[in-house]
Amino acid sequence: MIPKEVVEEIRYRCDIEDVIGSYVTLKRAGSNRNGLCPFHSEKSPSFTVFPATKSFYCFGCGAGGDVITFIQKIENLDYVGSLEFLAARAGINIPNDASVGAKETVSRKRVYEMNLEAAKFFRNCLFDPTLGREGMAYLSERRGLPGTVIKHFGLGFAPNDFGLLTKHMRRLGYTEEELIAAFLCGRSQKTGRIFDLFRNRVMFPVIDTAGNIVAFGGRVMDDSKPKYLNSADTPGFKKSRILFGLNYAKSHCAEQMILCEGYMDAIAMHAAGFENAVATLGTAITPDHARLLSRYTKRVLINYDSDEAGQKAANKAMALLDEVGLEVRVLRLTGAKDADEYIRTYGADAFRSIIEKSHTAFDFKLENVLARHDVSQAEGKIRAARELATIIAGVGSGVERELYVATVADRLGISREGLANDVKRVRSKNFREMRKKETRDVMLSARNFGDRINPDAAKDPAAAGAEEIILGLMLLYPEHRRAVLAGNPQLTSEDFFTDFGKRVFEAILQMEQSESGFVFSAMGENFTPDEMGRLVRITRDREALQNNDIGVLSAAAEALRQRREKRRALQSGDWQSEIARRRAEIKKKQES
Ligand code: CTP
Ligand code: MN
Repeated sequence: MIPKEVVEEIRYRCDIEDVIGSYVTLKRAGSNRNGLCPFHSEKSPSFTVFPATKSFYCFGCGAGGDVITFIQKIENLDYVGSLEFLAARAGINIPNDASVGAKETVSRKRVYEMNLEAAKFFRNCLFDPTLGREGMAYLSERRGLPGTVIKHFGLGFAPNDFGLLTKHMRRLGYTEEELIAAFLCGRSQKTGRIFDLFRNRVMFPVIDTAGNIVAFGGRVMDDSKPKYLNSADTPGFKKSRILFGLNYAKSHCAEQMILCEGYMDAIAMHAAGFENAVATLGTAITPDHARLLSRYTKRVLINYDSDEAGQKAANKAMALLDEVGLEVRVLRLTGAKDADEYIRTYGADAFRSIIEKSHTAFDFKLENVLARHDVSQAEGKIRAARELATIIAGVGSGVERELYVATVADRLGISREGLANDVKRVRSKNFREMRKKETRDVMLSARNFGDRINPDAAKDPAAAGAEEIILGLMLLYPEHRRAVLAGNPQLTSEDFFTDFGKRVFEAILQMEQSESGFVFSAMGENFTPDEMGRLVRITRDREALQNNDIGVLSAAAEALRQRREKRRALQSGDWQSEIARRRAEIKKKQES
C-alpha cells in the first residue's frame, strides 16, 4: 500500500486542470472547466473539471473522480500504476518499502524487465550465424529489410527449441510463474514442465511510448499457421491501446500519421523513410486507438489492405477517427495488396506520390457510393443522392458541407438547392434523434435502471436516494463523518440497503478512524474508476448537500430506517395491511 500522505502529496502536486488539460482541450465555464469527454464520444462538451474540489465529472457518461481516477481510466492503469505515473510526472519519490503493485502477482515492471531480457536473447539468436541463419535469411532476403532497420526495430529470432529461452531466463533468476505471466513460457499439462512459447519465429518486439517492451509478435517463416503468435494481454499490455511503431513515429507525426494493419507494413514504411507509420496489432482499430492517435497528430492517413476486408475496416476506422476530431484520408493502392508489397514493387518515390494523391474521407465514400449505383438512370441517381445526403449531413463543418453539396450535385447533374435541402432535413432528423437519446439516457440513469455500479438501487429507489444523501455528506464534510462516528445520528452499515452503499459507508468510517484520517483519493484503492465516478456524482447531485446542514443527515438517516421498516413489514406478510393503508391514503387524497 502506498501511504496516504504520499497519495495526498501526489494529488496536491498534480494539478487536476493541468493533468486533464494535457489530454482534453478545456474551456473556462465559470469557476469550472469544460471539454469534450475523452471517455465517450460526444459533440457538445459535458465533461467538467471542478478545480475547487479537485474532481471531474462527465454529465454524459457518468465518468468521474479525481486526478488519480482520471489517469487510471485514460492510461488504462490500476490504482497503484496511476499513482506511479503521476508521481513520475511530478518528480515525487514513492518510498520503496511501500511494496508497490503488491496486488498483482507479477508487477508490470517485472514483465517489462523480462521482456527486455527476452528481446536481447531473441536479437542475439538472430545475429548468431548458426542459430539465426534461417531467421536472418527470411528478414533480409525474403523481406528485403536492411540490417539498419532490423536493428532499429530490435527484431529477433526465436530458435526452433522448446527450452532455450526458458533456460536463459531461469538462469537470470525469473521464476516459472513470472515467465508464464509474461507470456514468454507455457506449462505442459502432461509433464507439468514449462517451455518456450515462441519457437521458430522471427520476433517483433512491441514497444510503448515510454520505451518499455510490452509484448511480442512472432511470425512463422513459411505458410504454416498461425502466421503470427502474439503475447496475450498481460499486466501492462492491452492490445486495444497499443500502436506498433508509435514509439518511433511519435516524433515525426505532428502533421500526419499513417495507420496500417500489420507489423511488416509499418516496418517497410519506416524503412522507406515514412517514419510516421504505425500499425494496430492484428485487431480492428478501437476508440482507444483513435483517442491515442488524436493526442499525437492532426491527420491520419488510413493505409489498409486493398482487399474487401481491408476496405471495410477502413470505413470503420474512418468513423472512429472522425469522432475524435481527426482529419482523415484514405490511401488506395492499386497493383499491390499492401504497402509493404507496393513499396517493394514500385519503390518509395511511387509510394510518396500516392500519399500526395490520397483521397479525403469524403472522396473515398463518394467513389464507393457512385460505384454501387447506376447514376445514368434516374432511379440510381436518386438512391445515390439519398445516401450522399446522409453522408454529408454527418459532416460537422458548414463550409465543408457546402463544398460537398456542390461536388455531388455537379457529379450527379442535380440541383444544389435540392440536395442542400435534403441534407438539412437529414441533419434536423439526426439532431432530434440525438436529443431524444440524450434525454432517454439521462432519464434512465436517473431512475437507476441498468445501474451497473449500484444494481440494488432500482429495487428501492427511495432508500438508495437516502443513502446517497448520507454518503454525499460524509464524503464532503468532516463534521458529518465525526457525527456518525459519535453515534448522532445513529447509523450502522446494517441500515444500508444497497451493497454499494454499505461498502462506501464502511470504507469512509474505517478510513476516518485510521491514523492518517479520511482522504478522498485513497478511496480509489478499494473502488474502481467507475465507482469513483459514482462517488463524485453523489457529492454533486443534490442541492441539499451544498450547505453542510447536520439536520439533512439526521433526516436521511431516519428515512433510511423507515424504508427498512417498510421492507420488513412487506416481507413478513404484513403486506396486506400495507396495501390497505395505501388504499386509504389514496382515497383520502382523492376526497380532499
Ligand atoms: N495478425 C495476427 N495473427 C494472424 C494474422 C495477422 O496477429 N494470424 C496481425 C499481425 O499484427 C499482422 C496484422 O495482423 O501484422 C496484419 O496481418 P497480415 O496483413 O496478414 O500480415 P502482415 O503484417 O502484412 O504480414 P506479412 O506481410 O508478413 O504477410
Ligand atoms: Mn503483408
